[in-house]
Amino acid sequence: MQDYRKDFPIFISTDCVYLDNAATSQRPQSVIDAVSDFYVQSNANPLRGLYDLSMKATERYESARKKAASFIGAGRADEIIFTRNTTESINLAAYSYGDDAVKEGDEIVISIMEHHSNLLPWQRLAKEKKARLVFMEPDESGVIPEKEIEDKICEKTKIVAIAQVSNVMGIRNPVEKIIDRAHRMGAVVLIDGAQSVPHMKVNVTELDADMFAFSSHKMMGPMGIGVLYVKKSIMEKMKPFLMGGEMIEYVTREDATFAELPHKFEAGTVNAADAYGLDAAIDYLNMVGYDYIEKRDTELVNQMMEGMKKMGHITIYGSDDPSKHNGIVTFNVEGVHPHDVSSILNEDGICIRAGHHCAQPLMQFMKVGSTARASAYFYNTKEEIDRFLDCLSRVREVAGYGS
Ligand code: ALA
Repeated sequence: MQDYRKDFPIFISTDCVYLDNAATSQRPQSVIDAVSDFYVQSNANPLRGLYDLSMKATERYESARKKAASFIGAGRADEIIFTRNTTESINLAAYSYGDDAVKEGDEIVISIMEHHSNLLPWQRLAKEKKARLVFMEPDESGVIPEKEIEDKICEKTKIVAIAQVSNVMGIRNPVEKIIDRAHRMGAVVLIDGAQSVPHMKVNVTELDADMFAFSSHKMMGPMGIGVLYVKKSIMEKMKPFLMGGEMIEYVTREDATFAELPHKFEAGTVNAADAYGLDAAIDYLNMVGYDYIEKRDTELVNQMMEGMKKMGHITIYGSDDPSKHNGIVTFNVEGVHPHDVSSILNEDGICIRAGHHCAQPLMQFMKVGSTARASAYFYNTKEEIDRFLDCLSRVREVAGYGS
């Protein structure tokens, strides 16, 4: 195993076993330095000042846009809109594209495993337009079958929005097949890449995705900056999302014309420091490489699943194949509420997430109220997983079950 842990100051300052990477990852020193360097060396309001310092800030912000574009295989930098996070990216898409594209009687197709961020914006749109929100459902192994794709995506479908990787099961959805079917039916597809981009190489051009959303903070970048990729031909038709400074071309008392793409969608002072941090995170991720990340994801998940299977009293959800989990293991301990599992693990410095994971319709579909979720990333170690498993093996005893 490569020693990347030394690049992460949090592992020096704390002794916790951090297994909540699907909620947010940790940041290497190079990302922390990049954000700090922005303020130390180039802080001025980007895109406005006609002086050197502001132009340096603009240059750093726009070079981050180019980096983000090439990172996901977008053909052009102006197809990248910076947002706060995946949630804001999807809300932008639903409002700026969806409001004009969806009419009464149309259908919007998502899956039952969507994060609330890829559900609520479409619920709002469907209600307002009197359109129908249609849910694709997975089979027992968590996979959406081909028949489900063919049945649910039809001539009435105007938008399909789907997570590339589920934040609960870690499973990869068959987005290639979904995009192909949607395009044959004349629909536009948005991919929620929040959980995929940290773990697998994405190329939006090869996928032929129309829109693609992701967050910086789950891939070692700063919190507060996210990306919405939109094909230029689609972005040209979209109305602005937020109104205000720097998204305009010309303003009169009564009216306004808007700035060129993508600035029309970035109202107000932009988050240039964190965009510069995202730029550094992309460099770091590329340096580590997806081959290594995927290998570590599988090793760590395999170790967790094998250890849990030996314990009994534990239900693991999703595929039996560790390589299909993208670092995520979602489980329940018989008789112990997931919140109690998390609190007991926390006593030993182990951080996992428990609850509905912002995916309540999936919980209802799985017929569980909530689950516990351990999510690993390449910097986690075998020793940490041993510590997690050792503590997990004592959870029922601590909860009063004897063993
Ligand atoms: N979307 C994040 C998660 O799944 C917060 O935990």
